[in-house]
Amino acid sequence: EESKKVAIVEDPALPPATKAKLNALEALRGKRVRVFGWVHRLRVQKDIIFVVLRDGKGFLQCVLSGVVAQTYAALTLTLESSIELTGTLTALPEGKTAPGISGKPEPNGHELIVDWWKCIGAAPGGEEAFTNRLNEKSDPSILSDLRHLVLRGETSSSVIKLRSQLLAAFRDTLTGVNHGCMEVTPPCLVQTQVEGGSTLFELTYYGQKAFLTQSSQLYLETCLSSLGDVFCVQESFRAENSHTRRHLSEYTHLEAELAFITFDDLMTHIEAVICETVDRILANPLSRSLLYHLNPTFTPPTRPFLRLSYVSAISWLNEHNILHPLEDPLTGSPILDPETGKVKMVKHKVGDDIAEAAERQMTDIIGRPVFLFGFPKELKAFYMKRMEEVGEGGEVFTESCDLLMPGVGEIVGGSMRISDSEELLAAYKREGIDPGPYYWFTDQRKYGTCEHGGYGLGVERFLAWLANRYTVRECCLYPRWPGRATP
Ligand code: 4AD
Repeated sequence: EESKKVAIVEDPALPPATKAKLNALEALRGKRVRVFGWVHRLRVQKDIIFVVLRDGKGFLQCVLSGVVAQTYAALTLTLESSIELTGTLTALPEGKTAPGISGKPEPNGHELIVDWWKCIGAAPGGEEAFTNRLNEKSDPSILSDLRHLVLRGETSSSVIKLRSQLLAAFRDTLTGVNHGCMEVTPPCLVQTQVEGGSTLFELTYYGQKAFLTQSSQLYLETCLSSLGDVFCVQESFRAENSHTRRHLSEYTHLEAELAFITFDDLMTHIEAVICETVDRILANPLSRSLLYHLNPTFTPPTRPFLRLSYVSAISWLNEHNILHPLEDPLTGSPILDPETGKVKMVKHKVGDDIAEAAERQMTDIIGRPVFLFGFPKELKAFYMKRMEEVGEGGEVFTESCDLLMPGVGEIVGGSMRISDSEELLAAYKREGIDPGPYYWFTDQRKYGTCEHGGYGLGVERFLAWLANRYTVRECCLYPRWPGRATP
């Protein structure tokens, strides 16, 4: 027994092994290589041990037979132990598959015929074994506590890998010749609000009141005159008590701002950025493979996207008998039907804030991306430019748009901005905002104003649409929602 515990020694007579990551092995076929990683899958067949090794970059089947399969370490090897192996990398015969980037079988693979290996960090077996802690049937809140372990799974890690590819594709699209935007990094600690006081996280900042940013839009606007069209990929924070599958308290916000454009240019730009980014994802074998493993029936959207005005959407909803909760005109809270005890549902009318459920039903029926545009002024943020024509009842609409995707709903919110200082000052007043802290934002209108507009895209929502995930909580590393900031 004791003699078996003695580790095997790497044979110095063997040719030197090249150290490599698992996604960079193709060029080393037929050679001796050295790899490191975690035991992702483990199977013993007769006297042969098959290990699927995982290093985060890829997966590799490793075959241990003969003396390397008979050591104490081999006989007690557990899932998720970290190991080092050397051996000859052997191409698999045509038609045979090996685990690819997502861990799922792909053709044209290779495997490692192991000549030496060692355990670096043994993971526990028994009670504490990885599979015991992480059980598919575990309660969702336990799985949330164990997010750091869940991430080792093929699906969760594939989503995060695709997210990385997606961010790179967005950056390439936005900085490329078609759009020529420059990336900037605005601050997260701010003293101004963008999207209303009710979702601000407030904190004390050297004795002053400050907030976590809700949107970098105002900062992007100030960059137009120095840097031209700009974009950022920044965390935004929303203290909304929304426990839905599309709300996070912290999310990654991709925002852009463009100068000297029209509202039509803005929507055309958003559509182009989305379609070109999807094209990039599909053109890259790595991201394409991840995408189709996660969402086998994905079909890229076709241009142009449907454009539906807010007023037409209200008619569309009524024609399709999709109703609106009756609200108390003073408090805005839903009114219950005394007979059924349920919220009273009525036809939509111009001025209603289209509820998430109705919006979603509409988008799912239409079944393709929809720009909903021209929302009433009262429903939108203070900075939005008003449309020239007014409604039949004298309603004022804004040059604003939301991009809705089937299955997810709103993924982009954008608008043209008020370009006139007087009009902006009136807007602060109307919303009860003290213009003082906004002096730098107002100055943008004072020193050479321009027509401009921009948008914000929720990266997790976009990814949920792309990868067909049930919730945005799967689409970021460590999601935050009301009550959760761990791990
Ligand atoms: O519509 P929103 O609030 O727009 C703005 O913040 C603008 N200032 C952006 C701009 O024009 N630069 O948010 C934009 C997008 C939404 O369409 C949605 O995709 C995402 O941000 N988003 C959220 N994603 C996850 N969780 C939340 N709580 C989100 N709130 C908004």
